Amino acid sequence: MHSYGSSFSKPGHEPGPPMWLLAELTYRCPLQCPYCSNPLDFARSKQELSTEQWIEVFRQSRALGAAQLGFSGGEPLVRQDLAILIGAARELGYYTNLITSGIGLTEEKLASFSAAGLDHIQISFQAADEEVNNLLAGSKKAFAQKLAMARAVKAHGYPMVLNFVTHRHNIDNIGRIIELCVELEADFVELATCQFYGWAELNRAGLLPSKAQLVRAEAITNQWREKLAAQNHPCKLIFVTPDYYEERPKACMNGWGNLFLDITPDGTALPCHSARQLPVEFPSVLEHSIEYIWRHSFGFNRFRGDDWMPEPCRNCDERQRDFGGCRCQAFMLTGDASNADPVCSKSADHGKILAARRQAEEAPGTMAELKFRNERASRLIAKA
Ligand code: FES
Repeated sequence: MHSYGSSFSKPGHEPGPPMWLLAELTYRCPLQCPYCSNPLDFARSKQELSTEQWIEVFRQSRALGAAQLGFSGGEPLVRQDLAILIGAARELGYYTNLITSGIGLTEEKLASFSAAGLDHIQISFQAADEEVNNLLAGSKKAFAQKLAMARAVKAHGYPMVLNFVTHRHNIDNIGRIIELCVELEADFVELATCQFYGWAELNRAGLLPSKAQLVRAEAITNQWREKLAAQNHPCKLIFVTPDYYEERPKACMNGWGNLFLDITPDGTALPCHSARQLPVEFPSVLEHSIEYIWRHSFGFNRFRGDDWMPEPCRNCDERQRDFGGCRCQAFMLTGDASNADPVCSKSADHGKILAARRQAEEAPGTMAELKFRNERASRLIAKA
């Protein structure tokens, strides 16, 4: 395992602005999803930036050119100052987006967010079936609350944007999921097969669908697209396949330190939500300005440009398109974040992806083996 230093400046790679700022306001969450992308040791980091500290982050990032601000978590609704933060962001000129499970949302909160100028809300669901949704969410009330809040969001004049994380235990119900979205009059639906970071990586064997499941789910989604288009229905379906069934890696974050700036609850600044696990020192907003962090910190420069790339990426004519893929995935699968993402069929480690696909066909994990963010939820699933 490589270990990297703490102070760095890379000439010739002057970055553009951090267009997309993600504020992970808290790791606290009432749900317990086994595919949560939060770090496994999230509970160790109880420290959260204060209202004033967050607003200062927003101000400095905006001065550097940030245009879109996402509020996420954990569950951002547990922050009692969320309406204040939204208002401050709006005043600074951000386009604001709330990414929520809908748990903890009320009509009153929604009205206060709307008054504060919130531009966009996305609600995530665990399944279209109440029982499975609640089991996965670890709450008996989760499904009913989500339905009510999805309707309330629409009633407040927002487009209804729903996110269903799919995996081997719910993807066969994709037809019912889409039906539910149409019943709810959703405008955009993201049917995202879970990607394997954080808790999802821990549970990969129990979550990765088989190729046959994926092919069938995509075919059903396409049938629905045709049906909706024939009716001039406004609902747009976005189907996201997992990296594990690709032959070329995604251009993760559109390049390291290129557009995306993530601030974690305790103020650590990251080039992606998963980077904390890497043996790279990342700066804190409590110690450095956003300008220093974005332009000069070692962590944000570590994988900028392409000088850092070893073979096969170094001489690959696709390196400007995919930037060698995902650094976190390379680290999780090979132990070295500077290796090519094993999703790429040119990677010497691509066999690890093929082995995971084989396991999904021949020896998948069961629902009862899933590890949840909370032990109680794991036990409930094991009994079900
Ligand atoms: Fe960290 Fe892809 S998630 S680089």
